[in-house]
Amino acid sequence: MERLQKIIANSGYCSRRKAEELISKGLVMVNGKTITDLGTKASSSDIITVEGKALKTEDKEYILLYKPRGIVSTTNDDKGRKTVISLIDTDKRLYPVGRLDYDTSGLLILTNDGELTNLLTHPKNQITKEYIVKIDEAVNPTLIKKLTLGVIIDGEKMKADRIKIKKLDKKKNKTIIEIVLHEGKYHEIKRMFEALGYKVSSLKREKYAFLDLKGLTSGEYRHLTIKEVKKLYSIIK
Ligand code: URA
Repeated sequence: MERLQKIIANSGYCSRRKAEELISKGLVMVNGKTITDLGTKASSSDIITVEGKALKTEDKEYILLYKPRGIVSTTNDDKGRKTVISLIDTDKRLYPVGRLDYDTSGLLILTNDGELTNLLTHPKNQITKEYIVKIDEAVNPTLIKKLTLGVIIDGEKMKADRIKIKKLDKKKNKTIIEIVLHEGKYHEIKRMFEALGYKVSSLKREKYAFLDLKGLTSGEYRHLTIKEVKKLYSIIK
C-alpha cells in the first residue's frame, strides 16, 4: 500500500505535488469512490482514476541511450522527424528525462518512472551533466574564466561548474572544450557560447550524474541496472 499521490506520480501522470492538488480538488477516485484525504493509501490492484481517466501502472523500465544527432528527444514530433522512442524496442510508454537538442548527441535516460523523472529534472536536485563542445574557431582562453563566473542571458545567470579546454588548434581553427553544469535550461550551452560570440558546431553529452556512455556507440542503448537506479534515487533523496 502506498499513498495515492505517490502512485499517481509514479505512473508518470504528474508530479506528487500536482497529484495532491488533484486529490484535494476531488478529481481522484479509488474503486469508484472520490478521495480527498491526502493520507489515503491504495495498492496497484485498486482501480484509480484521475480527472476521469484510468491510471495506468506498469512495470518500470530504465534505458540509457546514446542519442545520435539528427533525431528529436520528444515522444512525437509535429514535423514528423524521427524520435528517440523509435530507437527503443519496448512495449512500455517511455519518455525522455529532460531533452537534448535535435543536433546534440549523447547520453539520454528514458523511463516510464514518473517519480524518478520528476526528481531528476527538478532544479533543486542539481544533477551534473558533462558535455564536449566543438567550435570551428580558436577561442580566446579568457572564455573559461567568463563561463566560470557566469554570463547573464535574458536576465538569467548561466555558469559552468567546471570547464576546461581539451584542445586549441590555432592552425586548424578548432577548439574542443569540456564543460560540466547542473542546470537544464533551454539551449543552455549554445546560448552561453553565443553570448561570448562563439557558435557551437557540435555538442555531445558524455555524462549524466555518475552514468557515462562506455560500451555504447551512437544509436545504441542499454538498460540501467537495479543498482544504478537505486543510486540515482539515493543521490537525489
Ligand atoms: N545545451 C544545449 O544548448 N543543447 C543541448 O542539447 C544540451 C545543453
